[in-house]
Amino acid sequence: MALLPILRYPDPRLYKRATPVTEVDDNIRALADNMIETMRAAHGVGLAATQVDVHLRVIVLDVSDDQQHPLVFINPVLVSEEGSCEREEGCLSVPGIYDWVVRAERAEVEALDREGRSFRIKAEGLMATCLLHEMDHLEGKVFVDYLSPLKQNRIKTKMRKRARETL
Ligand code: NI
Repeated sequence: MALLPILRYPDPRLYKRATPVTEVDDNIRALADNMIETMRAAHGVGLAATQVDVHLRVIVLDVSDDQQHPLVFINPVLVSEEGSCEREEGCLSVPGIYDWVVRAERAEVEALDREGRSFRIKAEGLMATCLLHEMDHLEGKVFVDYLSPLKQNRIKTKMRKRARETL
């Protein structure tokens, strides 16, 4: 397995829309495994392929307490969502930035697993928030896009400054 470099906001590649996976083969499994390793190394609870500059509809998630129960979602589709809740979100592509976003409280999602088998999950709470956050990445959307233009500009400035400092 390998650690993959994570794109940093406001990298324009984060705004690409991902295309569906046509076949869940060993390449896709290797991508998912590398994404899980990358997510763990970065202490994240979710990662979308978009964030590692692979524009395919693949998400990994692990909201378990011991961080040992990763889930792989390939070609995830939102079946239904209900309610709303506001939660403080962060993102591995926007390190150190946290802000409040309103999303559905519950979401039912259908996807393929690592073996290409179809499954459905009824997510709620943190799991629903993470899943919807990661599905947004596949549409080329970052949680910062939900914030006010003023906050977005502040975050962009901060991220660009930080990128210059680490060169
Ligand atoms: Ni994110």
